Amino acid sequence: MRRGVIIFIVSTVIVLGFAVHNVWTLLSLLVVDGSEDAISRAELPAPYSGAISERPQLIPKIIHQTYVNESIPEHWKGPQQSCLDLHPDYEYKLWTDKKAREFIAAEYPWFLETFDGYRFPIQRADSIRYFVLHHFGGIYIDLDDGCNRSLDPLLAYPAWLRRTKPTGISNDAMGAVPRHPFFLKAIDSLPEYNRRWILPYITVMASTGPLFLSLIWIHYLNGSPEGDDRVRVLFPDEYNNHPWSFFTHHLGNSWHSNDVKLIFWMAQHWILLTFLGFTVGLSLLFCIYSFCSRARNSKTKGGALYSRLPFYRRVSQKDIELDDRHEV
Ligand SMILES: *[C@@H]1O[C@H](CO)[C@@H](O)[C@H](O)[C@H]1NC(C)=O
Repeated sequence: MRRGVIIFIVSTVIVLGFAVHNVWTLLSLLVVDGSEDAISRAELPAPYSGAISERPQLIPKIIHQTYVNESIPEHWKGPQQSCLDLHPDYEYKLWTDKKAREFIAAEYPWFLETFDGYRFPIQRADSIRYFVLHHFGGIYIDLDDGCNRSLDPLLAYPAWLRRTKPTGISNDAMGAVPRHPFFLKAIDSLPEYNRRWILPYITVMASTGPLFLSLIWIHYLNGSPEGDDRVRVLFPDEYNNHPWSFFTHHLGNSWHSNDVKLIFWMAQHWILLTFLGFTVGLSLLFCIYSFCSRARNSKTKGGALYSRLPFYRRVSQKDIELDDRHEV
């Protein structure tokens, strides 16, 4: 084989390998579904069943929520109250911006610089929930999620998350015992994932939000956690709009902006986009390759610089033909 071809193939393999390595976890998000960790309805007592009390309750009875300050907006008071009413025996902790910062400064000072440095307030609201779950344990619930039934049955699992469709997990409601290794991994990884992307939405999703937590989840599953280290998963198909569902969803996230539409469009059309990406990438590689080999050929034939340009010959041929016709 010619040296040029070998160099071309080797560099293509390196570039592709690097690209695949970088997005490997993202790609595995498409295939890992976590169904082996599913909490199926069959394991749970019916809503309002007395059987609940016989199960071991590992997660402490604490509900955590976050908001800027103590004045919760009217439209979220309903969902908040629904959770308070169903859990009179739970401790309730509302993490305001001020309390969250004091907590990080006191308990996790190594994270304070990253915490203060976040560009978007939602990144602080995202990250604080992993820290309070790691420190106190309990159940975190977004303010726009209400409660549909007692969460007591979920206290029996050392850690649980909610699955989202089509891929990944969400960080809007989750529970754990204190110091669970999954949330330890999450908080330890936050500084490393603190990168800025062009779109604010991607920055938030990938640095602290659901995409961040989904990637941590994939990495965590790669370590094949067993026993109490497992993270159990609630699947939307089994719970949403069902009397057994634990949560009700109210208004959407308050921080969504314009780039969200683009992301949702991209998420819906990811197969098309992947196909387009590969087509463009491979065409580009092919063009570079044929350009290089043309240049080599013309060099060996001692051709002029012009002949390196693609289409040169075809265009000039046409010109000649036209000229010929004029002459006739
Ligand atoms: C709480 O935060 C909201 C939203 O930023 C603001 O409108 C309101 O004035 C704040 N309330 C207090 C008591 O600071």
